Amino acid sequence: MEIPLLEMKGIDKWYPGVHALKKCSFSLLKGEIHALVGENGAGKSTLMNILTGIIPYSSGEIYLNSEIVVFNSPKQAQIAGISMVHQELNLMDNLTVAQNIFIGRESKGLFLNDESINKRTGELFKRLNFHIDPKEKVGNLSVSLRQIVEIAKAISYDAKIIIFDEPSATLTDVEITQLFKIMKELRSTGVSMIYISHRMDEIKRIADRVTVFRDGEYIGTQDAETVKIDEVIHMMVGRIIYEEHKKLSKIDKDTDVVLKVENFSSFDVKNVSFELRKGEILGFAGLIGAGRTELARLIFGADEKLSGNLYVNGKKTAINSPHKAVEHGIGYLSEDRKRYGLVVGMSVANNIVITKLKDFIKRQFINEKEITKITDEYIKKLDIKTPSAQRLVKSLSGGNQQKVIIAKWLLNDSGILIFDEPTRGIDVGAKSEIYKIMNNLAAMGKAIIMISSELPELIRMSDRVLVMCEGEHTATLNLEDINQNTIMKYATKN
Ligand SMILES: Nc1ncnc2c1ncn2[C@@H]1O[C@H](COP(=O)(O)OP(=O)(O)OP(=O)(O)O)[C@@H](O)[C@H]1O
Ligand SMILES: [Mg+2]
Repeated sequence: MEIPLLEMKGIDKWYPGVHALKKCSFSLLKGEIHALVGENGAGKSTLMNILTGIIPYSSGEIYLNSEIVVFNSPKQAQIAGISMVHQELNLMDNLTVAQNIFIGRESKGLFLNDESINKRTGELFKRLNFHIDPKEKVGNLSVSLRQIVEIAKAISYDAKIIIFDEPSATLTDVEITQLFKIMKELRSTGVSMIYISHRMDEIKRIADRVTVFRDGEYIGTQDAETVKIDEVIHMMVGRIIYEEHKKLSKIDKDTDVVLKVENFSSFDVKNVSFELRKGEILGFAGLIGAGRTELARLIFGADEKLSGNLYVNGKKTAINSPHKAVEHGIGYLSEDRKRYGLVVGMSVANNIVITKLKDFIKRQFINEKEITKITDEYIKKLDIKTPSAQRLVKSLSGGNQQKVIIAKWLLNDSGILIFDEPTRGIDVGAKSEIYKIMNNLAAMGKAIIMISSELPELIRMSDRVLVMCEGEHTATLNLEDINQNTIMKYATKN
């Protein structure tokens, strides 16, 4: 049998109150792409943070080329040829793309020689076939472009082992395809990669082997080509998940229109009109740069529009700030949770009740008991993995942070909800929970806009799908016309 390039054995990790890894093992061969999967909080990121020297571990050994190694910092791991693309983006908004990629690498000082790093960054993007200006400030980039900068950074180290912690959660299909192409090229040059994802279809598309973790335990490793995806899901969640598809839409022409958007235009959105009905789930489909999030932000009053009218429940309404939008019963779950959705230094409970805090104040006292009761209810309902409601959000796994945002908007009880990539980074089990919740909300009469780059979930959830391409509204598809081919046709103007 081939000797692994990397072996992790008996790795154990405790956080206060959480046994995050229980004597786990993991092995990686030279030149293989190894998928690492498991539910939110299973311990995937923790294992990778240990491998790259970011966090210490209680016990266990790491072997590289059959020799024991100990990394006390990411720098040491990098020198040994291991680099990582992090799940939560770690870039500095005020620096340019090139400065972010080369930060800390030049010992002579941070900003020495912008010209040379711009040139090197330009060459790197050219090689990777992504079009990003090295001189652009990272803060001006969308989430997915920032993700690409992170990927480019990890690749630029010419590492022997590259770890991708859920890159596809922030990328669209076209970019994922591009990333997979790059990964395959790297593999052909002998680079080994660990690929973390919640998208099961990707295992077959990219991986050679797949390892499953559950609740901090190593469950097993399978050959990606021969394993059945159902089997992987079963290993992940320890139970069978039933997926139901929408067969029938209860929404018709007579259903009340709760939101009407008329000729909305901005820099990124070109004259879009549509209606959203009570109890409807309206999907927004499109590729990156299609203007879906931009349109949502216009509706929510987060950005300024150039023209257009908005009607809420038939009444013409001027919404020029998110505050106004919330007043009119519109809720927006942002795709970029770190920037807009969460205060990560605050507790789970406080994040959930933040917009409703005044409801919990009686005679100037905050009713902590009531807050705990409500938040515990949502923790249970959404299966948020946290030892308690008082835990700080930043200590939760990526997917569990997303669930906290969802809880917050559910509690806010808005009549119109805009979900922007709601299941990004969420595991299969929790995904189906969120679908169930969205369907329940719709059944209760709430109107939902669902922006998603995962076509399968748009197809299963939507009553109608609005397709956009480069800022234009190219089609509105009824239930019977919703399918992958038709959506892609209008999303690409072909
Ligand atoms: N800094 C921390 N402090 C305390 N607990 C933590 C910390 N980081 C992670 N945990 C806990 O350790 C467990 C494993 O988390 P980890 O981030 O490794 O999960 P994951 O498999 O990457 O999940 P996801 O798919 O949601 O990203 C979780 O219960 C999480 O809440
Ligand atoms: Mg993670």
